[in-house]
Amino acid sequence: MMNIETPRLLLRWFQARDLADMLEYRTDPEVLRYQTLDPFSREHAEEFIDEHSRNSLDKIGAWMQVAIERKSDGKLIGDLAIHFQSEEPRIVEMGFNINRRLQGNGYATEAATALIGFLFQHRNVHKISCLVDVRNAASFRVLEKIGFKREAHLRKSYFDAIDGDWFDEYIYGLLPEDINAPKPYSNKIK
Ligand SMILES: CC(C)(COP(=O)(O)OP(=O)(O)OC[C@H]1O[C@@H](n2cnc3c(N)ncnc32)[C@H](O)[C@@H]1OP(=O)(O)O)[C@@H](O)C(=O)NCCC(=O)NCCS
Repeated sequence: MMNIETPRLLLRWFQARDLADMLEYRTDPEVLRYQTLDPFSREHAEEFIDEHSRNSLDKIGAWMQVAIERKSDGKLIGDLAIHFQSEEPRIVEMGFNINRRLQGNGYATEAATALIGFLFQHRNVHKISCLVDVRNAASFRVLEKIGFKREAHLRKSYFDAIDGDWFDEYIYGLLPEDINAPKPYSNKIK
């Protein structure tokens, strides 16, 4: 079991009790807006929780989901997703979601910084990479606060089925020396 603790958050695997909290944000069209994700049904959420309740942080070639729990009340407030690339597992792709009602409190930055610190320190990760719709300013603001650099601008590379058109994306990248948080990233590992 992986547990990473930050001042306000606990990063852990999913648990059955997360269902209602997960449905709050995984059914919210605003949260899913710039991602190729469909809103979750209750059944899908149950399967997702089951699948990601017994993960391990070294699976190669599959997306792994990490729950973000607020320590003050145990509420699931969002999730992080990571993917060790099959062709080069020392490069990891990352994504994140936070419940809309709780956005703007620094939670995504705190959670992602802690997980990234863990990957660099304990999983021999060389680089973190993130693909973002150019309209998703909150998302790339989080990445830039952490220290990610904008490395590429992909022209009309993503078809947005809601708008029925092609949109540009940025690729962001982070090397250990780019990270803004002081080492060892102020998180506790249990
Ligand atoms: C991206 C997301 C996870 C950020 O979560 P969060 O907990 O609100 O993030 P933080 O509070 O750590 O930081 C958000 C930053 O974006 C800024 N921001 C928010 N909306 C913005 C906008 N429309 N334009 C520009 N900046 C914006 C905030 O002001 C804050 O920056 P600041 O600290 O300099 O003020 C959240 O918005 C979300 O879940 N979005 C939908 C899912 C998504 O698109 N995920 C990314 C897929 S890669």
